[in-house]
Amino acid sequence: MPHTPAPFPAARARRLRRTDWMRDLTRENSLAVSDLIWPMFVREGVGIEEPVSAMPGVMRRSVDRAVDAANEAANLGIPVIALFPYTEGSKKTPGCEEAINPDNLVNTATRAIKAAVPDIGILLDVALDPYNSDGHDGFVVDGVIQNDETLMMLEQQALVQAEAGADILGPSDMMDGRIGVIRRALEGNEFSDTAIMSYSAKFASAFYGPFRDAVGASGALKGDKKTYQIDSGNADEALRMVARDLDEGADMVMVKPGMPYLDICQRVKSEFAVPTFAYQVSGEYAMIEAAGQNGWIDRDKVILEALLAFKRAGCDGILTYHAFEVAQRLQRDVDLF
Ligand code: PBG
Repeated sequence: MPHTPAPFPAARARRLRRTDWMRDLTRENSLAVSDLIWPMFVREGVGIEEPVSAMPGVMRRSVDRAVDAANEAANLGIPVIALFPYTEGSKKTPGCEEAINPDNLVNTATRAIKAAVPDIGILLDVALDPYNSDGHDGFVVDGVIQNDETLMMLEQQALVQAEAGADILGPSDMMDGRIGVIRRALEGNEFSDTAIMSYSAKFASAFYGPFRDAVGASGALKGDKKTYQIDSGNADEALRMVARDLDEGADMVMVKPGMPYLDICQRVKSEFAVPTFAYQVSGEYAMIEAAGQNGWIDRDKVILEALLAFKRAGCDGILTYHAFEVAQRLQRDVDLF
């Protein structure tokens, strides 16, 4: 139980707020570079850094440039990069064959980064949406997204990604039976050290809009993802999904989007006490950048405040498009808050 403050003036809350050093000394939560996972978009080609229009400051990088960026990120102490492929329209099919191509873009990028920068972790999504001409995370038959048929494909996708060197796999389609099947496949194929960070509490959200642009999926997507992602009114369901995924062999869990779902972050951490991550998604990033560009908020301060909120809610780390910049700032300035 928190101690009830003594009556004024024995207690004066402002004593501990008086100076920077006192606030630093008594701050309950902090942000470190080791809390940050940097999502990065990769594309075909050489020497390319192409801006994503709805995410000012975010690039799609060709593999060589992704390697350079990974190297810089590792030098800053960023522990993990999450790679997402921008897939050419011609490689998107109803059968999503490109997902299990060992030499597809994301696997090629993973190999290249692992060879050049062995000390940074690589996280890859296990889901079909980058490769699906229907834009959905699963096969679509007569307008219905298929659960079990998709699962067999995800198993193969997980194995080619582990083979390419992914350290962490992130099953992200929120359908049923994913973690158990992927965990068994990894164990059965000498990938017992590959970790699973399940997108366990992933909500059907409009905050993913800019991301779908970044990976070239928004044009393809027909309808929405409400038959597989969680309804935004539900909190108990999110906890059941976390419990299910942990039982099936997830090592870490994720809540996504981030800031609109801080209540879920807090409940997951306090009820399960497992490594818990938040994904501050593309729409959250875009809102901060847009308001900053308009001079409506102090962007630099808001970025840090938003990330600290995840730590306060109990998250062990945050996937954020601001990771690189924040890592630089944490390295440069001693006094950020
Ligand atoms: C795909 C996936 C999505 C994101 C990460 N993996 C989008 C979606 O479910 O449609 C969103 C990330 C973001 O918005 O930043 N399964």
